[in-house]
Amino acid sequence: MITWQGILGDLLQEKDKGAHFGCYLWHYYLGNTLKPRRIGEIGVRFGYSLKAFIKGALDAGVTPEAYGWDNEQYEPGCMDIVESHISKIVPYKGYKVDTQKLESLRIELDFIHVDGDHTEAGAMHDMNLAWNAVSTHGHILVDDICEPPIAKACFRFMQERTLQGTMIPMHSMAMLIAKDQKHPSYIRKAWEV
Ligand SMILES: C[S@@+](CC[C@H](N)C(=O)[O-])C[C@H]1O[C@@H](n2cnc3c(N)ncnc32)[C@H](O)[C@@H]1O
Repeated sequence: MITWQGILGDLLQEKDKGAHFGCYLWHYYLGNTLKPRRIGEIGVRFGYSLKAFIKGALDAGVTPEAYGWDNEQYEPGCMDIVESHISKIVPYKGYKVDTQKLESLRIELDFIHVDGDHTEAGAMHDMNLAWNAVSTHGHILVDDICEPPIAKACFRFMQERTLQGTMIPMHSMAMLIAKDQKHPSYIRKAWEV
């Protein structure tokens, strides 16, 4: 049986051992069904969600490349932990950087998770970076839609581009947006029932 504890394995840090992380099961299944070959994440922290997407893709028979951007604002030194762990599983490149200062991620990705700056302006900036980086049939996933500044940014982002998204009902709520606007029917169906 797939469990979030099994997905994180020895990446789970001592300080997080009392937490419940059911969201990583969602991330695993998104990686498992979307099968991205290039995965990116803005806001990596210890790489938990990144590892879940990667494991999902690996279990679906795809070995993805992974990319992460984080300025270590929450956890000094976290990007070194991510590097040492994730690069043992798949090709990985991490950037210790403030994404608010970037104009482009300078790479094309099939899937990108936006989970960095949680202000309205910051989330909007990161969504633009992600949208410009994602491939024609790729997806972006915006985390923490339950937080008002992120909800505001995300719905404005979608409204301005006339985009539809699929709400992922994980604890913090997330929005999945397909670049080609063809959302996976199995996720929509699950949400509609
Ligand atoms: C909620 S945590 C990410 C959690 C991670 N996605 C996971 O589930 O394991 C947010 C991360 O965004 C990073 N962050 C916040 N503002 C940022 C910025 N302007 N540039 C880069 N990283 C930023 C923080 O350092 C933190 O590690």
